[in-house]
Amino acid sequence: MGESTNIVWHNSNVTKEERREKNQHHSFVLWFTGLSGSGKSTVANAVARALFDQGIGNYVLDGDNIRFGLNKNLGFSDDDRKENIRRIGEVAKLFVDSGQAVLTAFISPFQEDRDQVRTILGEDEFVEIFVKCPLDECEKRDPKGLYKKARSGEIKQFTGIDSPYEAPNRAELVVETDKHDIEECVQLVLDYLKERRFI
Ligand code: PPS
Repeated sequence: MGESTNIVWHNSNVTKEERREKNQHHSFVLWFTGLSGSGKSTVANAVARALFDQGIGNYVLDGDNIRFGLNKNLGFSDDDRKENIRRIGEVAKLFVDSGQAVLTAFISPFQEDRDQVRTILGEDEFVEIFVKCPLDECEKRDPKGLYKKARSGEIKQFTGIDSPYEAPNRAELVVETDKHDIEECVQLVLDYLKERRFI
């Protein structure tokens, strides 16, 4: 893949701050990371509903869905996962610039890639949320039957089985879906956002 040359950055006439003022809310990224089946999408979508009901415009970017479109040319090698996360980070930044909150639900298994996104977004707009759940519990849930396929060798490079997951070492928040129900996890996120004065 080549790189663009002779390109010039154009500033928008309407600033992020103006958009936020009009929306009357902050814009930020809630970056959910965790194993397949840990509950990332479920928690992210429940938080999105709660924020929406409070008048906070938001959008959920979800692993499976993004891989149907924007990232359909990427697989699950380490390099492809890295590129997947880089692109999502850039898309998330566009949402933040547009004055929206964005919630992302990707396994995002590598610390280095999550740190890169943190740098793209900046500390003030990025919240890393570890959706923590032991592998054996995720495997027991196996909502899509993928762990079964990974164990039988039908799927290769499956996170937690034959591809690594690096647990976050600097997450702002940890929600444990094997210990708390969805409502409790959502409340933890909302409490954190209030504490940070994001909502
Ligand atoms: S990553 O690692 O962040 O790039 O992955 P992500 O874009 O979140 O995609 C994860 C979803 O893809 C399905 N799937 C796999 N996951 C992990 N490893 C392998 N090999 C794999 N193959 C397919 C799976 O449904 C993941 O969804 P979730 O919601 O996490 O279960």
